[in-house]
Amino acid sequence: MKSTRRSFNIGIIGAGAVGTTLASMLHRSGNNIVAVVSRSKQSARKCGKEVSCRNYSDDISIVPSTCNLVIIAVPDQSIKTVAESLAALSNLRFNRISVCHTSGSLTTDALDPVARKGARVFSMHPIQTFPGQKSLKDQISSMKGVTYGVEGPQRSLAIAKSLVRQLRGEILFVPKQAKILYHLACVIASNYSVALVGAIDSIAGKITLKKLQPFEKLLQTSLENAMRLGAGKALTGPVARGDSELIAEHLRSIQDPELRTLYKSLGAYALKLAVQEGRLSPGQIAKLQELFAGKE
Ligand SMILES: NC(=O)c1ccc[n+]([C@@H]2O[C@H](COP(=O)([O-])OP(=O)(O)OC[C@H]3O[C@@H](n4cnc5c(N)ncnc54)[C@H](OP(=O)(O)O)[C@@H]3O)[C@@H](O)[C@H]2O)c1
Repeated sequence: MKSTRRSFNIGIIGAGAVGTTLASMLHRSGNNIVAVVSRSKQSARKCGKEVSCRNYSDDISIVPSTCNLVIIAVPDQSIKTVAESLAALSNLRFNRISVCHTSGSLTTDALDPVARKGARVFSMHPIQTFPGQKSLKDQISSMKGVTYGVEGPQRSLAIAKSLVRQLRGEILFVPKQAKILYHLACVIASNYSVALVGAIDSIAGKITLKKLQPFEKLLQTSLENAMRLGAGKALTGPVARGDSELIAEHLRSIQDPELRTLYKSLGAYALKLAVQEGRLSPGQIAKLQELFAGKE
């Protein structure tokens, strides 16, 4: 039977954490990486080595005419400039090329310079985090089953789907006007959950030398419950019970002003969830609201 799977000739622009990870995964799934371009030749060479591509440079003009997909994985503020440089390449036949970027917050507007030349454009953002310290091998294994937020005009979506399939990922179509809300959700899921772990770590450090480890299971199970049952139903503890005395005691024990603000903001949000679930009496709600809004 004839295979319907298509492979791409891919140019990678930006050989950082995201660019190198996607390049390696796409190389392993049978695509050709035909060019690797980065700000420094050193990064381009390192990525090129991972994906058997000797055509690497700090100069974008190495992108060959055989390239039919360009992935731009440079910092957000440089995407438009890169798109402009790409659009200026006279060897490329843009009506045969797709160009995407990997930003979670920017839309395809950043790719206007190549779209105007006839390229299919889309943004394809892996909903995953790429801390610089992680090895490429570990980063690739964390990509299993990842969802990609895809935004772009209808004519580009078949290519986007095919690319996500090659990456063995799931796809979430994001309307252009909702991209900023989509990114807000990603930031809270990733960066703010990391901030919470930092807060637990600083408190735990005052009690035990093991720091985070005793709290790991609690954190994991709470997240699992919230994902499975929904946040309101998964909520336990003093807010869900309406225990204002205990919350007042917690507040008295906090010295760090940022931690106090964090505790109150998240407490107020937990209260909103508990109220939505109908778990508290009007008197309990009023007392908790007063504590979370209080200046001390
Ligand atoms: N980090 C995350 O968790 C994450 C997650 C999802 C999506 N993203 C998005 O993915 C994109 C890349 O992020 P990243 O974390 O991979 O960034 P990164 O690790 O800082 O890598 C960016 C790479 O782009 C190269 N670069 C910078 N300016 C360039 C230019 N003008 N031309 C060519 N190459 C250039 C840099 O080159 P040199 O190394 O040669 O200096 C660097 O290797 C961003 O849009 C980001 O928002 C990031």
